[in-house]
Amino acid sequence: MGVPARPKITTTTVQEKKQRREFITCLTAYDYATARLVDEGGIDMILVGDSLAQVVLGYDSTLPVTMEEMLHHTRAVRRAVRSALVIADMPFGTYQGDVKEGVANAVRFVKDGGAEAVKVEGGEKRADLVRRMLDAEVPVMGHIGLTPQSLHKMGGYKVQGKDLSGIERLMKDAVALDRAGVFSIVLEGVPREVAAMITREVAAPTIGIGAGPECDGQVLVFHDIVNLSFAPPAKFVRHYGDAAALIRNAVAQFKTDVEAGSYPSDAESYHLPKETRADLEAILKRKEMRAVRVAAK
Ligand code: KIV
Repeated sequence: MGVPARPKITTTTVQEKKQRREFITCLTAYDYATARLVDEGGIDMILVGDSLAQVVLGYDSTLPVTMEEMLHHTRAVRRAVRSALVIADMPFGTYQGDVKEGVANAVRFVKDGGAEAVKVEGGEKRADLVRRMLDAEVPVMGHIGLTPQSLHKMGGYKVQGKDLSGIERLMKDAVALDRAGVFSIVLEGVPREVAAMITREVAAPTIGIGAGPECDGQVLVFHDIVNLSFAPPAKFVRHYGDAAALIRNAVAQFKTDVEAGSYPSDAESYHLPKETRADLEAILKRKEMRAVRVAAK
């Protein structure tokens, strides 16, 4: 049975949801199958996150993932998605330097990857870049707080905005991104009280991950919610299913069936058409009789 179509989600839809005080949903996806399921599940936004590096490619941080790898996976997601807004995460090193290069890379995600927006990490210091991307007609999602691409600068994955100067920094970053025109802002790893203040202050919808329930929406990594991450879950991760158990069980059953000779069954095998089978049997019989005659000589 087909899944009923729903209207296309755009950056405007997401902004209108904030105005109507409706919560916004976002999940990551990196391939055709999971993107299809997430889209058919009615999620508003699909982020092709650079978390791809860890949960799909097996790196120990997001830093090594390349532009080509991100584009490859963005295209797979694009082919699957009908309604959700597809956002591509700009990988480390593709926008932090030259603004022109950052804009060109953002354009590639739209033109070659089929993304409808890009995400960049960083606050006030990205405001100029965001404006230039918007000038190039590429909508931008901001990302502040615990920004994994700043791993070495932060000295580890640490909750941000825990003291007054940290709160002031986050507020300045959020306001600068909002003024620059981002269509939404990811708030990652910040105290819920701070996320609530930012959410009230900015027009752009805030999308929380480890930022408490007062954000305008929530995002999680797909592999985390289905227990496929092979890492101890962060405090904010909730498991909604156990794909690891499901897959382990399927693999074990396949192994048992093959080793026992019970897979494939006759019903799971292709068969010759009746006439070909009869012809083949006649040929084999003739061959057999010839062999008997030769042996008897
Ligand atoms: O790459 C990612 O998965 C992210 C998160 C915000 C979910 O950036």
